[in-house]
Amino acid sequence: MIRKIVKYGDPVLETPCDPLEEFDTEELQQLVDDMFETMYDAGGVGLAAPQIGLLKRLTVIDCSCGEDPDEKLVFINPEILVTEGKQIGEEGCLSIPGFREDVKRAQKVIVRAQDTKGETFEIEGEDLLARAILHENDHLDGILFLRHISALKREMIKRKIRKLRNKGEWD
Ligand code: NI
Repeated sequence: MIRKIVKYGDPVLETPCDPLEEFDTEELQQLVDDMFETMYDAGGVGLAAPQIGLLKRLTVIDCSCGEDPDEKLVFINPEILVTEGKQIGEEGCLSIPGFREDVKRAQKVIVRAQDTKGETFEIEGEDLLARAILHENDHLDGILFLRHISALKREMIKRKIRKLRNKGEWD
């Protein structure tokens, strides 16, 4: 089921999430399936639980946009263990549609997380995958990519969003 994606301005996006503690349930599998479906429908490569209004430490990522099942990744209670290097590239967010800006991120990350069964795993990501992991992880701490751009650009985007909201084009 496609869920509604929460847009910038909703406090749920700027609230730190709680750890997920129940694993291996039908509800969790359904939630993960819904998150992938919602993300593919919106054309994104990552989605975090708070973006569908749920304050839990859960993200899904698929840098192949649904092309390669091996690239479907689920991260529960993720922890970034190592970051290395840097990359600068354009970033967007399904909760801030229509706005993209260059963001500096680590080029490589090692992350530890749990899967839907509660099993712990570690994975190394580079380039786009590293960017997606870091972006989605930020969501779990209530941090949006706007935090990583200049104050001037951030204010400009906020102003444009305010106008859209006043016209009823942002909800
Ligand atoms: Ni995002």
